[in-house]
Amino acid sequence: MKKLTALFLIVVAWLTYISFTIDPNKPVQIPASVQRTGDKEKGYQYLITGDYLKSGIPYNFFMMGAGKDKANYLGRDSFNKNISFNYTAIKAPNGELVVAPNCLQCHGQVFENQLYIGLGNTSMDFSDSKSVSKNPARLYSFLSIGGAKKFEAAKNFLVATKTIGPYLQTEVRGVNAADRLAGVLVAHRDPVTFEWMDKPVLQIPDEVVPTDVPAWWLLKKKNAMFYNGLGRGDFGRFLMASNLLTVSDTAESREVDSHFNDVLAYINSIQPPKFPKPINHDLALQGKPLFNDHCSKCHGTYGDEAKYPNLLIPAAIIKTDSALYKTNYSSPQFVEWFNKSWFTTGDHPAQLVPFKGYIAPPLDGIWITAPYFHNGSVPTLEAVLNSKLRPTYWSRNFDNPEYGYNDPGWKHTVLAEPAKGAYNTTLPGYGNYGHYFGDKLNDKERKAVVEYLKTL
Ligand code: HEC
Ligand code: HEC
Repeated sequence: MKKLTALFLIVVAWLTYISFTIDPNKPVQIPASVQRTGDKEKGYQYLITGDYLKSGIPYNFFMMGAGKDKANYLGRDSFNKNISFNYTAIKAPNGELVVAPNCLQCHGQVFENQLYIGLGNTSMDFSDSKSVSKNPARLYSFLSIGGAKKFEAAKNFLVATKTIGPYLQTEVRGVNAADRLAGVLVAHRDPVTFEWMDKPVLQIPDEVVPTDVPAWWLLKKKNAMFYNGLGRGDFGRFLMASNLLTVSDTAESREVDSHFNDVLAYINSIQPPKFPKPINHDLALQGKPLFNDHCSKCHGTYGDEAKYPNLLIPAAIIKTDSALYKTNYSSPQFVEWFNKSWFTTGDHPAQLVPFKGYIAPPLDGIWITAPYFHNGSVPTLEAVLNSKLRPTYWSRNFDNPEYGYNDPGWKHTVLAEPAKGAYNTTLPGYGNYGHYFGDKLNDKERKAVVEYLKTL
């Protein structure tokens, strides 16, 4: 009898376990993983001056093309003084001075004349990438004839950029193609040795899935990286992944990796920028309990006793555009490459763990991170909370960008039909549907919640 009871209990426990882990309609809690500790000051210096890319455009060629940049937002000296914050001058292994793009290409944005490090750059233009590969191709032919040392220092960079450029085409300006960039890079590299191969060894699908860029100050709360919570284990390993653009061998990767504990410490020290205009505190106070009732079970609570639940929300609940998480299932070769690569080796390995849905992100500093959702398809907070307000076609002025503060987000023009360069939410991967949780509230309640969101 005792045996039977024990068996019965085991079966019940097992069924409960299954229903919590496999049920595709339940949020999944992401377990924490151990991270390396580091020195944030060293991490910052490495981020803005370090040679995590070791190949680039010869310095004088770069200056000829780009001209002097006088802003010097980062207050850098020497050769970096005259170049834009999103590039770094470095010594290639053969001693030649070259200029390489740095992380702030995508993770920094000048907003109302101030540079915000860690704010995703939402004005990048990948919609004209086909032409981008032409310049590296020209420079490659030019240097290969006359500039032996310069050619050696620039070669890895030029070969990679002329090869991948044509793959990065997005349909609209303002979305990012970094996931595609990573995919194409790994398709050209041996997973164990990182050796470059001119012919891709993985099949590269046609579609380019667009994403926004998550703000760096959110990472300290998160147990997994990326919109779909794919990145697990040692975060430093993912932070250094851009090194794949130019890396020569895994000895170089080991050296670069040894700095990214410091970079992680720096990223984790970044605080969200405070809302710069007056807030209606009475209204925000009304919004707080509404937020706690309707939103905090996924997005956490804020203030003195802040708690963040670290949940992955399955597609059946969130219902936002599915293209991003689906690629991990329709093209599993990229996840497979990673999970047998150098990145999974050593004493601080990383893994990719796909999920059919998205992470519910922390909302700190949410006022400044428009456009919203993982694909940047919704221009304002109010429209996140009221799905009827989400425009199907919309454009914004990239030359003189204007931000809204009453309803935080990008000032934009709603269009009646698709137009070149305008956001088109009817395209695959660009959909603005889903996340209908704010629709249950009335207009007054939504206004109060938006006011509360400004305080986060
Ligand atoms: C070409 C643009 C680009 C460059 C360059 C780039 N990133 Fe990213 N990064 C992205 C995008 C896009 C994502 C989000 C991808 C996703 O979630 O699917 C991302 C995600 C991240 C995240 C995860 C944040 C989170 O909360 O999940 C971190 C941290 C990060 N990048 C750090 C870095 C560092 C450090 C560098 C430089 C060594 C770098 N990135 C270079 C575009 C870029
Ligand atoms: C069931 C879980 C859940 C609930 C409830 C929920 N959210 Fe979300 N929220 C998510 C997920 C998941 C995302 C990411 C969706 C995506 O990017 O595709 C998200 C995205 C957002 C974003 C955009 C974040 C960004 O950086 O682009 C905002 C703003 C937001 N939610 C606010 C709210 C508010 C306010 C409420 C309450 C009215 C709420 N959410 C209720 C899960 C939830």
